[in-house]
Amino acid sequence: MLFDLNPKESQKELFGREEELGELVRLLKARRWVAVLGPRMVGKTSLVKVANTRIDQNAVYLNLWGAKGTQGLLNALVHGRNSSRGLLQKVKDGVERIEGLSVGPGGVSVAAPKKPLRTMWDLLSMIGKQKGNYVIELDEVQELAVISGHLLKMLANIFNTYPNMTFVFTGSIFGLMRTLVEPKSSSPLYGRSPAKLYLRPFEKTKAIGFLDKGFEEYGVEVPQDMIENAIEESLDGIPGWLALYGNSVAVGRMPLEKALSETVSEGLKIVREELEHFLEGRDRSAYLAAMKAAATSARWSEVKGAMEARRRSPVNDATVYNVIEGLKASMLIDEQEKVYRVNDPMLRTLLLTTKIS
Ligand SMILES: Nc1ncnc2c1ncn2[C@@H]1O[C@H](COP(=O)(O)OP(=O)(O)OP(=O)(O)O)[C@@H](O)[C@H]1O
Ligand SMILES: [Mg+2]
Repeated sequence: MLFDLNPKESQKELFGREEELGELVRLLKARRWVAVLGPRMVGKTSLVKVANTRIDQNAVYLNLWGAKGTQGLLNALVHGRNSSRGLLQKVKDGVERIEGLSVGPGGVSVAAPKKPLRTMWDLLSMIGKQKGNYVIELDEVQELAVISGHLLKMLANIFNTYPNMTFVFTGSIFGLMRTLVEPKSSSPLYGRSPAKLYLRPFEKTKAIGFLDKGFEEYGVEVPQDMIENAIEESLDGIPGWLALYGNSVAVGRMPLEKALSETVSEGLKIVREELEHFLEGRDRSAYLAAMKAAATSARWSEVKGAMEARRRSPVNDATVYNVIEGLKASMLIDEQEKVYRVNDPMLRTLLLTTKIS
């Protein structure tokens, strides 16, 4: 059902992504490393999961949300879901054999002198030495940012050593994504950058088609102008918000207006959490000031002015530059003809209507 709120896992539930799916499958079959990019709720995880049903390689899907570093990656790998139970068992057995590593009820633990990254390498090598081809899918890869340098080196080593192992990276394009996707010449991944696959929001007609089809599945009739208004005013072509709206109407049996406002407030809640997550460890007031300015579109000088107004003191150009680059790298703002703008409609609404300080 289209209005199902989990990531889709079967091709018949994936709406309007034939081209992107074909492309991802083609790249995976060609054993390319791939980065699936796009805004929140656009369907990145769904695309990867559905692609898994179309390839005959062993896919290991790892959700790294909250993983925070190598230890988290190890845990995810050992507990990861994958299409081959046999592999999972082998990984588990292998873990027991890797020196300094043990699996307990709380997850994997690494004995003190042993470095988690070294252990990670041992574990991945173990997979690489198996017969057959493996696709390791790291979803929410931005969570690994804290170990980016070492991780990149390790990935480059894997690339060189185990041609039967490929990686798919998914997530918002925070700092690490950028270093993965567009490695500089000094990066270990230089010359080995993954193919990029962009997922864009649906065009208006496709968004309408999505809602029409979804409502039809439930036998619910919704006037066409209500559908169009909902898309134009609030939902845009982001499948996740469309699905949530449709679900509230068709499953939650909410009146249309209420479903829309609840979807928006749910969306705002999710965006708010993401924003808070993003701001952790960053210069909060500087980033917030810049984003609020960009919510209504702003030039460099306006962004700088907003930051200074908030600080009540001068801000130097380097700081402004770093903040803007940070926001661009994480796809929170876009630059067009020297104007910066928050693209995501939910994030824009959040910044303009809610008190965040
Ligand atoms: N092409 C599609 N057809 C049907 N449903 C979709 C499609 N794309 C996304 N969805 C739905 O939208 C929601 C978000 O999808 P998904 O989790 O795959 O997106 P995502 O980009 O990985 O999101 P996030 O940024 O939160 O990780 C889910 O409810 C999913 O079922
Ligand atoms: Mg996802």
